[in-house]
Amino acid sequence: MADGQKSSECRELLKVRDVTKRFRLEAGLFASGKKQVFALNGVSFSVAEGETYGLVGESGSGKSTLAKCIADVYSCDEGEMIFFSRGAAFRLDAAERKRHPLLNQKIKYVFQDPAASLDPRMTVEEILTIGVRYAKLYSRSQARDKAAFLLEAVGMAADSLKRRPADFSGGQRQRISLARALMSDPELLICDEVVSALDVSIRGQILNLLNRLKKEFGFAMLFIAHDLSVVSYISDRIGVMYGGRLMEEGAVRELFDRPLHPYTQLLLSCVPDAGGEFLRTSGSGEPFDAVNPPIGCPFAPRCPIADSECRKKDALSAVRATKERLCLCLKRNQLSK
Ligand SMILES: Nc1ncnc2c1ncn2[C@@H]1O[C@H](COP(=O)(O)OP(=O)(O)O)[C@@H](O)[C@H]1O
Ligand SMILES: [Mg+2]
Repeated sequence: MADGQKSSECRELLKVRDVTKRFRLEAGLFASGKKQVFALNGVSFSVAEGETYGLVGESGSGKSTLAKCIADVYSCDEGEMIFFSRGAAFRLDAAERKRHPLLNQKIKYVFQDPAASLDPRMTVEEILTIGVRYAKLYSRSQARDKAAFLLEAVGMAADSLKRRPADFSGGQRQRISLARALMSDPELLICDEVVSALDVSIRGQILNLLNRLKKEFGFAMLFIAHDLSVVSYISDRIGVMYGGRLMEEGAVRELFDRPLHPYTQLLLSCVPDAGGEFLRTSGSGEPFDAVNPPIGCPFAPRCPIADSECRKKDALSAVRATKERLCLCLKRNQLSK
């Protein structure tokens, strides 16, 4: 697709195709320097305008790596990501991001830990305005007005502008992070475990705030959490990740009512504890080894119904050719229904 090419009537906002990301392990006491972590292995999915797409999966499944590839924190090794903005399509690669610096203002990433992402030496005004001033989106006074408006929108008092992060609670800091992310009017907001570090009592407030902001400002969300109950509350569709792959995706109700992949079934069978925490899935067999990933379906070593087909090199890609993102196992389940 050409740079900024017109795309007619496309409601897709983000299209991710076959994205792969490997991290080279540093040479050291335990690593030779040649070993790699296979963090993402051919992930494809898309987000529609105004949609909330939830990504769920246990720790280490690749959720943050995927988000960071989209948000330009990492570059991916293979695959492509296309972002559709105002009728034009942009490839999210280094060259196109350089040609269109505003692309990175349209995709904003909100971190789990606001304490770490808000500079304690800066005032809230500086925190909110520095990015858009640097990008030359607004003058100083325009940026200050926008910051004041957004602070109010996230439920913070107007005098917060002159204060510093240490003056605020965890929930308030997350509100400030959200206001900062909205300064450049993003079309896609990536929320990576944004409520995971918060008290359960505050989580609901922030989730409701996100829903309200989404309606008011019209952005789409990629909402990541390891807690299935949180993801299902806020999302329109959910993608389930395991071992750097998207195992299954579907509308929330559809996925809950009819999970097809054994990993999704296992995930759903794990009852949250009293605090709403998602319990780590157990299953039988070895946990996923990202340095030596199994050939074929990454869940096969733990899967109760895996057979030799699932361990073939193209176990996922063979089906991808006919129906995207369905592994052989999913296909078998569908055929048997
Ligand atoms: N900067 C990094 N260097 C090396 N390995 C990494 C790095 N970031 C993530 N990983 C590895 O990539 C895999 C996916 O991690 P991550 O995307 O953080 O998962 P999640 O967000 O689902 O918990 C894990 O095996 C993790 O150890
Ligand atoms: Mg993560």
